[in-house]
Amino acid sequence: MDFKEHIRVIPDFPQPGIRFKDITTLLKNGPVYREAIDAMKAAVSDKEIDLIAGPEARGFVIGAPLAYSLGVGFVPIRKSGKLPGETIEADYSLEYGKDKLAVHKDSILKGQKVLIADDLLATGGTLVTTIKLIKQLGGEIVGAAFLIELGYLNGRDKLEGVDVFSLVKY
Ligand code: PRP
Repeated sequence: MDFKEHIRVIPDFPQPGIRFKDITTLLKNGPVYREAIDAMKAAVSDKEIDLIAGPEARGFVIGAPLAYSLGVGFVPIRKSGKLPGETIEADYSLEYGKDKLAVHKDSILKGQKVLIADDLLATGGTLVTTIKLIKQLGGEIVGAAFLIELGYLNGRDKLEGVDVFSLVKY
């Protein structure tokens, strides 16, 4: 399957010069969406996983079906101010912009094996911050799986020691 055929590239969104990878065109195609999740599942099948952690919002669209399919729990990593319980937070910077990510303090138990799942690895800022939050709670990172990797932004270089898988590379 050539997943790229199903990802729409929109120039100059959300800022001039950025070629936005729009996955809504892939998501609306049931068989292709399923095949993408199945391929990501196959790529992590050698791992012992207790939980999938997915960053808001597109990380939910990839991480939740992956968790369901693997039969493991899902932990949302949310933008600040959204989670109702006690949280820990960390700053992060994006390809375009800055924000804070938060996770419920009791969402990951010490020693639990966590796979991070998201739609996109760009600069790696989101992933680095997600890893920081998971480690702060005592979780063990077993890897990170992405639908798309923007290789030219070198996000992978920030992630020494983390096993990174991506389905589609630009
Ligand atoms: C996007 C994407 C990743 C992140 C990748 O999320 O879904 O989470 O950026 O970029 P990075 O590797 O440079 O950190 P965004 O924060 O735009 O939020 P959204 O999923 O709510 O659209």
